Amino acid sequence: MIKIDNLVVSYGGIEALKGISLEVPSGKIVTLVGANGAGKSTTLKSIVGLVKPKSGSIDYEGIDLTKLNTENMVKKGIALVPEGRRVFADLTVLENLKIGAYSRKDRTGISEDLEKVYSLFPRLKERTWQAAGTLSGGEQQMLAIGRALMSRPKLIMMDEPSLGLAPIIVKELFGIIKKINEEGMTVLLIEQNANAALKIADIGYIMETGRITLKGTGNKLLNNEEIKKAYLGESL
Ligand SMILES: Nc1ncnc2c1ncn2[C@@H]1O[C@H](COP(=O)(O)OP(=O)(O)OP(=O)(O)O)[C@@H](O)[C@H]1O
Ligand SMILES: [Mg+2]
Repeated sequence: MIKIDNLVVSYGGIEALKGISLEVPSGKIVTLVGANGAGKSTTLKSIVGLVKPKSGSIDYEGIDLTKLNTENMVKKGIALVPEGRRVFADLTVLENLKIGAYSRKDRTGISEDLEKVYSLFPRLKERTWQAAGTLSGGEQQMLAIGRALMSRPKLIMMDEPSLGLAPIIVKELFGIIKKINEEGMTVLLIEQNANAALKIADIGYIMETGRITLKGTGNKLLNNEEIKKAYLGESL
């Protein structure tokens, strides 16, 4: 679905991506794992056109995304759940969700998807009229994901959805990501919670300071000794 080839991004003189190549096959969950500053968010921002690469290409179903502007991404079926749960604080849960569907005209489809989001996240349904800014952190994250789903994307990309959430909520969230994928959506997931991400991912990439250093199935990376030491913590 997406094929990134030799992508270089630099901010000023500093290269944040030093020629990365990766693929997100249709129907899969792909995760990109790496330490702070590795270039994970930059990769997602390049895909949606928020940063312009210096060189390299991003092919999405035959289209070169580096030549498309950000507004067109949603129409092409790409949704991004950005880092840090950006919800519209003064708007209600429902209004936030409706914003996710702004580019759509199919009213029936929109209300179907609203019901789907509410069934994935019953907590949001209970809080339909609550101002998004007063939701708990975990609920805001659910709302950010729900809003992305409202555009009915083919590819949903999430930037550290589990950040700052309690372990039980993280577990719930990863279950939902898996469910979204089983319903046919392709997922590109960025995580520092390597353990949880690799468990649900078909394919994982390890990123270190602007480079992809390892690629493998989620399972293979979970059992890799170096990865265990570097990203999975002592307890595993
Ligand atoms: N707008 C910017 N201007 C200058 N440097 C930037 C900018 N955005 C990112 N960088 C730098 O690029 C590098 C990669 O940043 P990026 O946000 O992609 O990392 P990340 O892997 O998402 O890290 P984190 O896990 O902390 O979110 C970092 O060294 C960062 O300081
Ligand atoms: Mg980041």
